[in-house]
Amino acid sequence: MIDKKPIGKTNEYVSSLGLGTWSIRNYGRAKEAFIYALNNGIDNVDTAEMYDNGEAERFIGEVIRSVGKERVFVTTKMLPYHLESRDSVLKAARASLNRLGLRSVDLFLIHWPSHKHSIEHQIKVFESLVTEGLARYIGVSNFTKNQLEEAIQAPRSTEIVVNQVHYSVLHKHVVESELLPFCLENRITIQAYTPLERGEVARHPVIMQISRKVNKTPIQVALNYLISKPNVIAIPKTESLEHVKEIIGTMGWRLPRDIIDELRSL
Ligand SMILES: NC(=O)c1ccc[n+]([C@@H]2O[C@H](COP(=O)([O-])OP(=O)(O)OC[C@H]3O[C@@H](n4cnc5c(N)ncnc54)[C@H](OP(=O)(O)O)[C@@H]3O)[C@@H](O)[C@H]2O)c1
Repeated sequence: MIDKKPIGKTNEYVSSLGLGTWSIRNYGRAKEAFIYALNNGIDNVDTAEMYDNGEAERFIGEVIRSVGKERVFVTTKMLPYHLESRDSVLKAARASLNRLGLRSVDLFLIHWPSHKHSIEHQIKVFESLVTEGLARYIGVSNFTKNQLEEAIQAPRSTEIVVNQVHYSVLHKHVVESELLPFCLENRITIQAYTPLERGEVARHPVIMQISRKVNKTPIQVALNYLISKPNVIAIPKTESLEHVKEIIGTMGWRLPRDIIDELRSL
């Protein structure tokens, strides 16, 4: 089974799991883990200008130079205070691209909606990234269903391909009741962040019990639950080679339907 997910309506596919870069403690260790991942089935990474004041973007730049850009689909995120005008958006994007060592990024997201500007204004200035060739695709993060609906109804010259939101087997009700069906219907991919609840899923008694039943680890059960949805990519963070191997072992199989139902009611 080739475990891939579409990026919105683009006809482009990436692995069902990507790797996050928030709060890396040891970049040397992380580099080894990321290079292993990119050589063994993971092909997308998530970063942001905000993470470690740009250090996480610099780190991704180094990883890309080691493995080759063609092996990595890169997502980065822009802070909402740059959404003042096209000029301020382009300036912030160029700073991110400098740190990444790229001329264009695959996917740029608005990190969270600005409360200062209308959604229509935010999308209008943000889409200049695609028209100016600084990003191949744009998307959003932390948008509610209503905000996303407004965003896709705003006059646009480019599609919104992703909404990156907090989604895990222990934090799922808002996403599953509203956002997930809306995104499925509109062919918008969900990138699930904090999918491990920072490791908490590995200590949850019901997940532990299920993991013994299906002969997978609790981390694999928690991530497989998310990627069992057709339009969901999970982006766990790890800087450990051992953990990355466990995470990769989540792909290529699916939990049985009755277990998915049991997890849904958790
Ligand atoms: N858009 C947004 O607003 C937003 C917000 C939060 C996060 N994000 C993105 O989503 C990514 C993931 O979310 P997150 O970092 O908040 O949390 P997470 O992925 O749920 O958890 C990360 C934590 O889990 C540990 N871990 C990883 N693999 C493990 C394993 N196999 N066994 C046990 N522990 C394991 C990691 O430690 P080790 O490193 O030691 O393995 C780390 O402490 C972020 O890095 C970031 O890229 C986006």
